[in-house]
Amino acid sequence: MQPIVTLTMNPALDVSTSVDEVVSKHKLRCSGARFDPGGGGVNVARVIERLGGAATALYALGGPMGEVYRGLLEAELDGAQAIEIGGNTRQSFNVNEDSTGKEYRFVLEGPEWQETEWQAALERIEEALSEGGYLVMSGSLPEGVPDDFTARVARLAKQKGARCVVDASGASLEAALDEGVFLVKPNKRELRDLTGAGLDSREEQEDVIRRIVDEAGSEVVALSLGAEGALFASSEGVFHVAAPEVEARSAVGAGDSFVAALVSRLADGGSLGDAGRYAVAAGAAALLSGGTEMCRAEDVERLYPKLSS
Ligand SMILES: Nc1ncnc2c1ncn2[C@@H]1O[C@H](COP(=O)(O)OP(=O)(O)OP(=O)(O)O)[C@@H](O)[C@H]1O
Ligand SMILES: [Mg+2]
Repeated sequence: MQPIVTLTMNPALDVSTSVDEVVSKHKLRCSGARFDPGGGGVNVARVIERLGGAATALYALGGPMGEVYRGLLEAELDGAQAIEIGGNTRQSFNVNEDSTGKEYRFVLEGPEWQETEWQAALERIEEALSEGGYLVMSGSLPEGVPDDFTARVARLAKQKGARCVVDASGASLEAALDEGVFLVKPNKRELRDLTGAGLDSREEQEDVIRRIVDEAGSEVVALSLGAEGALFASSEGVFHVAAPEVEARSAVGAGDSFVAALVSRLADGGSLGDAGRYAVAAGAAALLSGGTEMCRAEDVERLYPKLSS
């Protein structure tokens, strides 16, 4: 298996709980809380580990909340490496309203970075990259980090011969495509915002992602389509994988589970076709787990053989 490094610049300590009804002014007595070390890249590394692979999670950490985060992460994942910063790691607060089944997600503001901090982060990323290995960048960029940070990381990956995988939106996604990366995984909304295309028909979706590959923005594009599965483009062509029908409990973690399965299968030497089916199975499996839980390996292995492309 080729080594995989995941990068999380703006992790969040996920606090999840439930309450019968969300009402203003009253004290809302919640049920027991669950604490998870969240954030795109960290989630991807946790799922890769669950699926039997290994990934090094490089993640930012700071302040007292950062120490709590570190403790939770180290209990679950071996070999995670912290990039220490001055600000306090952020939190996100997820509340399930039992009487309606609604999910409320409050995301607190993260710390603001200093230039010396993001420059030091680039050095740590460079050290962690290896030829033929994968670097997965996932999640938002914190305040203070420049918009071209993703492009700088993509450039470092190219220089080292590593494969950069980007799951981001807006300026980060645009920078990645301008610089040229190995793989991008937008969802429909993210690609629509970037290109201005409506993307309502399969034909238009295929045209847009084929063009990204032709223009060398990305060697592989994985356009995830929620309940409709995903569409993949590479120099070999375009193919679609339909998602299995599942009883959705919570959509949280579908994108991260998808990316984790895709990269772990590719890093294992699997074909894009196999990796694509595995990714769609993992995305759907994430819906079977409640709350902020990501996919479980047994659900992925059960769904995967049923898929075709
Ligand atoms: N309702 C669903 N039924 C079956 N599979 C689903 C459903 N929603 C998502 N998936 C699976 O998960 C994958 C990723 O989902 P989606 O396209 O919603 O990603 P995303 O918008 O990036 O998610 P996230 O909000 O986690 O970042 C899909 O390609 C599909 O395989
Ligand atoms: Mg996503």
